[in-house]
This record gives sequence, C-alpha cells and structure tokens, in this order.
Amino acid sequence: MKLEQASRLLNHGPTVLVSTMDGSRRNLMAAAWSMPVEFTPPRIAIVIDKSTFTREQVASTGMLALNIPCRALADLTYTVGSVSGHEDPMPVQDKFDRYGIASFAGPTLGLPLVAGCVGWLECRVIAEPHTEQAYDTFFVEAVSAQSDIRVFADGRWRLDGSHPELHTLHHLGAGLFAVAAETLQARALPR
Ligand SMILES: Cc1cc2nc3c(=O)[nH]c(=O)nc-3n(C[C@H](O)[C@H](O)[C@H](O)COP(=O)(O)O)c2cc1C
Repeated sequence: MKLEQASRLLNHGPTVLVSTMDGSRRNLMAAAWSMPVEFTPPRIAIVIDKSTFTREQVASTGMLALNIPCRALADLTYTVGSVSGHEDPMPVQDKFDRYGIASFAGPTLGLPLVAGCVGWLECRVIAEPHTEQAYDTFFVEAVSAQSDIRVFADGRWRLDGSHPELHTLHHLGAGLFAVAAETLQARALPR
C-alpha cells in the first residue's frame, strides 16, 4: 500500500500492538492511546509509559512497529498488554515465544510484525525528549505500511459483514473492547 495512506490505518482509533526489537531481543505490548498527526509524511503520536519494557527498547533503538490487531486477536492483545517483558527470562523466552505468537520481519526496519493482524506500520521515532519525558508521548514517522487487503485497500477500511473476525478492536477498559463492524458514508447537508 502507499505510504501516504498509512495514517488512515489509524484514523478510527484502533488499539494497536507495539512491537520492538533490540538486537535479538523482541517485545510486544498493547496500546490504546495512539493517533495520526500528519498524512504526508505519515506521523503518529503514541503513549508509551515509563514502566514498560517497550519504552526501554524504543529509547535504545529509536524504532517501533505498530500492528493493528483484529477481533480474532482480542485475547492476545489483552494478554500482551497485561504482562511485561521486564519479567521475561531472556534470552530464553520473550512474549512471542511464551504465547506462540507468529511473526514476520518488517520490510524496511526488520522489526517483528505480528501475523494475523490487519495492518502493520514500521516507524522511526522523531526525538522529542520533553514530550517523551513529561507526557510519555512519542512522535513517530511510518517508513513502511502494509494491510490485509480484505479489510483495508486503496486507503479505505471495508468493515462490513464479510470478514467479522478481521474487524478492529477499540479498548473500552479492563479488557473490554468494542469492535468496528459497520461503516456509513456521510453526505453534506443541503444549505
Ligand atoms: C488494551 C490495552 C491498552 C493499553 N494501552 C496502553 C497505552 O496506550 N500506553 C501504555 O503505555 N500502556 C498501555 N497498556 C498497558 C501496556 O500494554 C502494559 O503495561 C504492558 O504490560 C507493557 O508491556 P512491556 O512492559 O512488555 O512493554 C495497555 C494495555 C491494554 C491491555
């Protein structure tokens, strides 16, 4: 897909999975708080708390990937958002190993991307030390973008009844998600 369509993947506020890799050590966490802030180049803001292992990996590598999970991955999303890579007895095991999460290498940065998601963005961090420290908010720029064309093609989501297991997740809190399962085309009101 075209990179200028990358921000559209996040326009409707899906929960994402943030994947990272520092050397051979991988990690994965859930994040509900992300949003696009620019179409071209595609830029995104995302909150990554200081307590997370992801934060450590992002700080040392300057890279992360955003994976957009779907209904079929709700339990995985909740799980990787409830345990920390700080607890992993590496180098033996990480969350991918522990939960049998299949991944493939991102095309530009080689970051681990989660199989079965419906969108994937590899991103480089735009250094904003004050914002990161004060608000745990990172600005990133997407350098590769891919989608499952059954639900996102030509810059548009197709969230109809044909692939209900591929609909995106929207966190309501405490592991409860809403699923984006319907779209409607708005029309301008007559003057
Ligand atoms: C659905 C969901 C959404 C979450 N959203 C965020 C978020 O936006 N930012 C954040 O810092 N943590 C968020 N969390 C919490 C992290 O995913 C959690 O602290 C995770 O265990 C961190 O993993 P890590 O220490 O391996 O990086 C969320 C958790 C869940 C379950």
